[in-house]
Amino acid sequence: MAKIDITRTELVWPGKYNEDGTRKEVPRVSLPFQVIETINESRATREAEKQRQPSLFDIWEGKEGETFEDGWKNKLIWGDNLLVMGSLREKFAGKIDLIYIDPPFATGADFSFTTQIGDSDLEITKDQSIIEEKAYRDTWGAGIESYLTMMLERLSLLRELLSDTGSLLVHCDWHVGFLLRCLLEEQFGSDHFLNEIIWYYYNKFQGNVNHFAANHDLIFWYRKGENYYFTPQKEKRLEGKVRQIKRMWDKEKGAIVNVKGPDGKVLYQETDERAVDDVWRISMLQPADRTENVGFPTQKPEAMLRRILEAATSQGALVADFFCGSGTTLAVAEKLGHRWIGCDLSRFAIHTTRKRLLGIKDCKPFEILNLGKYERQYWQGVTFGDKGKSITEQALYEYLAFILKLYGAQPLVGLTHLHGKQGKAMVHIGAADAPVTIDEINAAVAECVQVRQTELHVLGWEWEMGLYDLMVAEAKKQGVRLLLLQIPREVMEQQAVDKGDIQFFELAYLEVDIGRPAKLSMTVTLKDFVIPNTELIPEEVRSKVKKWSDYIDYWAVDWHFQNDTFMQDWVTYRTRKNRKLALTSDPHTYDRKGHYRVLVKVVDIFGNDTSQAFDVEVQ
Ligand SMILES: C[S@@+](CC[C@H](N)C(=O)[O-])C[C@H]1O[C@@H](n2cnc3c(N)ncnc32)[C@H](O)[C@@H]1O
Repeated sequence: MAKIDITRTELVWPGKYNEDGTRKEVPRVSLPFQVIETINESRATREAEKQRQPSLFDIWEGKEGETFEDGWKNKLIWGDNLLVMGSLREKFAGKIDLIYIDPPFATGADFSFTTQIGDSDLEITKDQSIIEEKAYRDTWGAGIESYLTMMLERLSLLRELLSDTGSLLVHCDWHVGFLLRCLLEEQFGSDHFLNEIIWYYYNKFQGNVNHFAANHDLIFWYRKGENYYFTPQKEKRLEGKVRQIKRMWDKEKGAIVNVKGPDGKVLYQETDERAVDDVWRISMLQPADRTENVGFPTQKPEAMLRRILEAATSQGALVADFFCGSGTTLAVAEKLGHRWIGCDLSRFAIHTTRKRLLGIKDCKPFEILNLGKYERQYWQGVTFGDKGKSITEQALYEYLAFILKLYGAQPLVGLTHLHGKQGKAMVHIGAADAPVTIDEINAAVAECVQVRQTELHVLGWEWEMGLYDLMVAEAKKQGVRLLLLQIPREVMEQQAVDKGDIQFFELAYLEVDIGRPAKLSMTVTLKDFVIPNTELIPEEVRSKVKKWSDYIDYWAVDWHFQNDTFMQDWVTYRTRKNRKLALTSDPHTYDRKGHYRVLVKVVDIFGNDTSQAFDVEVQ
């Protein structure tokens, strides 16, 4: 191995440098974003936007202005922040005013998200109605080196996104605090360090430790450039009012001096406030708290984020959190009137954040984006082929073999549409970068018939819209039991794969009633949410579900779906506080008669989306 030329104090680990002694490059990819949902946007605004930017949907063009008046929409992005930040660079390099991140702390643990099932609230049913889903993983099988590489890559991109007056705040604890500080020094320079804030959570109970309980986290604050925003903060004194000598900063002396009266005597003042220093005594969220606690593991208190944003941003700032979890930073930014961008790779995080923001009074419109097929294409290229280039036959074979293995199936050779076999079922796998089409399913069913097989499982990332129940019925007529299963995003997460956390969910479908309460008006009533083969759902969950609607956590309607982005016009959802779910929408009144496409979207308790379009005639 070539000699590595270390020219300054830095943290090194196996894998930080290439064999030839050069620094490993941070992957900087730029992929197009797709807008998958817009929320709280009025139809009039949307129509106007469409006129202004005809190709806005589904690919995000980023032509909007930088203020709400100029069309800015806040953004919640589902995906790996490495690719997301890389893809944001084109429009946002040097534009973000404050970034707070609360990444995994390398605790070696997995974090679960608890979901209640059904309408009853916590007190009544105790934990009988609760299921646990893995929200995210913080295990680094390949060792702390892989964690450090992950963080160094992200810190480098974060720095590029910050404006010249921007600030980065990195939240961590004793597990990696000492290491992250070194990485931050390397990226930002020790002269750009501002604070090591101690968040002291005095109310966290920790039993069973044979040393002092660890009751604080660390937040490192760095500025990007020479200038930055800081507004000193005040807090109430624990001891109540105190009498103290009045002091002030003397510019000429460059020191703090006592203030004196005309008689030359020191002046005293009474106050119950103190200037906030770098030790923050802010209570940890309590499990029983149902106003702020949304049940997301490692959720941080809003009071802490509020203090950060109030101290380190100016009005109208653009704030981002690329490990947003339950969306605490975004919720606080929203309440303070800032613009925001959030990102997370967990579907529970994105769903929890969406609901949390919706619960904020007068929450401004926001959109949910992802990198969709481009992210999968990139992953496929990097994992099986030649970085991002078009996929070779060998790489395709490896891709199929990988998914088959995760599904517990064996590869098959010599057939065209049937890629594998699991028990007595034949398996077809959809491409990573295209929806599974109805023709594709028909071809696989036909091949099944040809080779005299009676069960077919089709696994796909995306699907040509609708008609699953009809397809299943059609296959049945040909003597084939057809199951359509979703390939989950976690397949692209090494940690989830290593842990065996990959669950393939069957596509569900909806039965609805369209009501016509008055002329030009319409309601949607959910009649059934069908998960075709419930035996695929773990028994511990199935046993807690009493009726079909218990599977539903959230549903929404786009009254005038235009085959592009789902626009949420009406929505209802369960919260920890309010478990009831309306099954009939409010009426919607159309401006004029005509043919409309209504899209109904359900998010179930597993965090999966099911969308179904219904064509309706409005009289
Ligand atoms: C400690 S939690 C953040 C909690 C958040 N501060 C809150 O108040 O709810 C860390 C989050 O980072 C997300 N995460 C981990 N790796 C990620 C990655 N590569 N890209 C995007 N999000 C990631 C996890 O899914 C998790 O939701």
